[in-house]
Amino acid sequence: MYAQLVKSEGKSQAELTPEDIAFQERIDRGEKIEPKEWMPEGYRKTLIRQIGQHAHSEIVGQLPEGNWITRAPTLERKQILLAKVQDEAGHGLYLYCAAETLGVSRDQLLEKLHSGEMKYSSIFNYPTLTWADMGAVGWLVDGAAIMNQVPLQRTSYGPYSRAMIRICKEESFHQRQGYAIMMKMATGTPEQKRMAQDALNRLWYPSLMMFGPSDKDSVHSVQSMAWKIKMNSNDELRQKFVDQTVPQAEYLGLTVPDPNLKWNEEKGGYDFSEPDWDEFYQVLKGNGPCNKERLGARVKAWEDGAWYRDAMVAHAKKKAARAVAAE
Ligand code: 3HC
Repeated sequence: MYAQLVKSEGKSQAELTPEDIAFQERIDRGEKIEPKEWMPEGYRKTLIRQIGQHAHSEIVGQLPEGNWITRAPTLERKQILLAKVQDEAGHGLYLYCAAETLGVSRDQLLEKLHSGEMKYSSIFNYPTLTWADMGAVGWLVDGAAIMNQVPLQRTSYGPYSRAMIRICKEESFHQRQGYAIMMKMATGTPEQKRMAQDALNRLWYPSLMMFGPSDKDSVHSVQSMAWKIKMNSNDELRQKFVDQTVPQAEYLGLTVPDPNLKWNEEKGGYDFSEPDWDEFYQVLKGNGPCNKERLGARVKAWEDGAWYRDAMVAHAKKKAARAVAAE
């Protein structure tokens, strides 16, 4: 453990302070770290990066589905989708609040999103072309998110772990509503089944990319796992996701678009093809199919909301001035 701490803090083992060591021992005992307590600067920065990226993913993730609210096929589907998209906004807010406890404001985080300095999940840079994509997004994207986020309920930072409890409950509803759409489509007309298969074909590999690069290329995993900011490695979670999802695809009568997919008795899991990592890094660099559109929509929403933020500040100032005058 100390060797990992040394790596991230850029200190030699001899330079580790008694605080660094006591902190790691608290983590190893499974204690929660709370906002006002001492923490290494690297721990704080890593949390801000991960929680901030997660919050941004929730907010940007509203866009591909929000795009379908007016085109949902029935009133019931429209209500469900609307509720789901609203939930994502709520998740963003809990997470921005959790990040604020680490000394960074929501405005600062949003500025970093808008300037491209901070990332959001690669998956949201892919388009949602048909109604079947609403099913596949709920089933695969929310399914991958839960796989990653259920263990994060046990993460070492108190406000983050508590935010994850509610988020996970709602994400499981999202996953089920997605699967329910897929069941309807996969057992519908031949055209509907074709749309369901097409959505799976397009979203399978981008969903596998959500877990991040292979462990050998992951920059932060070792340190983040030592600090229990991450509970599992990227490859471990990707494997669990594939093992859970393949039987669900079979139940739908759909084919996972991977000729190398094969049950491996020895490891007790599927062998499967890696996503195209060049494509993943291109998406991270801003060159995915929808990066410009997604970021453009967020920047526009921020700029369009300026009058409202200004009005709120003016109102608060007026109220404070009145209170002083009344004293
Ligand atoms: N999309 C965008 N960037 C990614 C990524 C992805 N799918 N996977 C990895 N990266 C980035 C990392 O942020 C890091 O870049 P940085 O140093 O500039 O920040 C770089 O690639 C190297 O990857 P690492 O494996 O070293 O990075 P992490 O240890 O941070 O692991 C992670 C990546 C697994 C995504 C981790 O950050 C994590 O568990 N995050 C919390 C969960 C989260 O963010 N989920 C978003 C999913 S979408 C969602 O929840 C919305 C819901 O409504 C569906």
